[in-house]
Amino acid sequence: MIITSCGNSKQLALRIARKLNVTYSPLTISAFPDGDTYLKFNAVVKGKDLVLVQSFQPSPEKSLLSVIWAAETAKDLGAKRVILVAPYLAYLRQDKRFHPGEAVSSRIMAKHLNSCINKIVTLDPHLHRYRSLKDIFTISTVKLTANKLIGHYIQNRIKDPVIIGPDWESYQWAEVIAREVGCEHTVLEKTRFSSRRVASRMVKDISLRGKDVIIVDDIISTGKTMIEALKKAQKAGAKSITAIGVHGLFVEKGLEKMKKAGFDQIITTNCIEHPTNRIDVMPLIVEELKKERRKR
Ligand code: R5P
Repeated sequence: MIITSCGNSKQLALRIARKLNVTYSPLTISAFPDGDTYLKFNAVVKGKDLVLVQSFQPSPEKSLLSVIWAAETAKDLGAKRVILVAPYLAYLRQDKRFHPGEAVSSRIMAKHLNSCINKIVTLDPHLHRYRSLKDIFTISTVKLTANKLIGHYIQNRIKDPVIIGPDWESYQWAEVIAREVGCEHTVLEKTRFSSRRVASRMVKDISLRGKDVIIVDDIISTGKTMIEALKKAQKAGAKSITAIGVHGLFVEKGLEKMKKAGFDQIITTNCIEHPTNRIDVMPLIVEELKKERRKR
């Protein structure tokens, strides 16, 4: 087995390789003066299982393209199998044509990966309208979850927790994490009355007064969803409010906006490398790759 990364997730890739005691070989990826991609493997991949560790942030398109380039080159060089570990897999929120003429980007992304990868391992993918990754991938798929790790983090550090999911889709994280922690939970549901008037309500009413509220979600992108939920918790008299996201994208100054809005803590896993990373998903990926090695 050889491990590499295609630009993102380098720290995670290095630590995974060290833990598994396998070679980490950096790829050379650059651009010709006209912008054409240049890619070179610096280790012999012939006959090997190649593991590409690459989150699809920043730059989802560039991330996807470099994975395709690396996988195609590895196959061409005689690699036995190419396994993609994408702790954060982009495009999954575009899981239907919301308006006529739109691209269903998740399907396009999957179609390209199906053609050059043998197996994909990802963490807490955004599955909303898809029931499973099998709905779009024809290759072998493994869906890992950071729910247990997040649960332990809360249990060990937060005194009087209640968990909130900021929107209906987040029940799949809020419910499981609350069970791990052994505390109450609810999710918020938004009702839009007009283009400017939106109200959110708790699907199940619970008291937040004097509590340490933790808002959990899979993705923090602009931070708007988290900030809306924070306002609700502030009004309801929460003692402290923490945001925990599996994938911290923090686009459009999302982190600054969240801090300004009044979060006491903002925590993410290292699925995407970021200063807010406090929860290490490396052990989950290592366990999965160990299974892969045992099969060979
Ligand atoms: C969407 O359904 C996801 O689960 C997140 O709630 C969403 O991506 C967060 O986006 P933002 O941070 O831009 O509000």
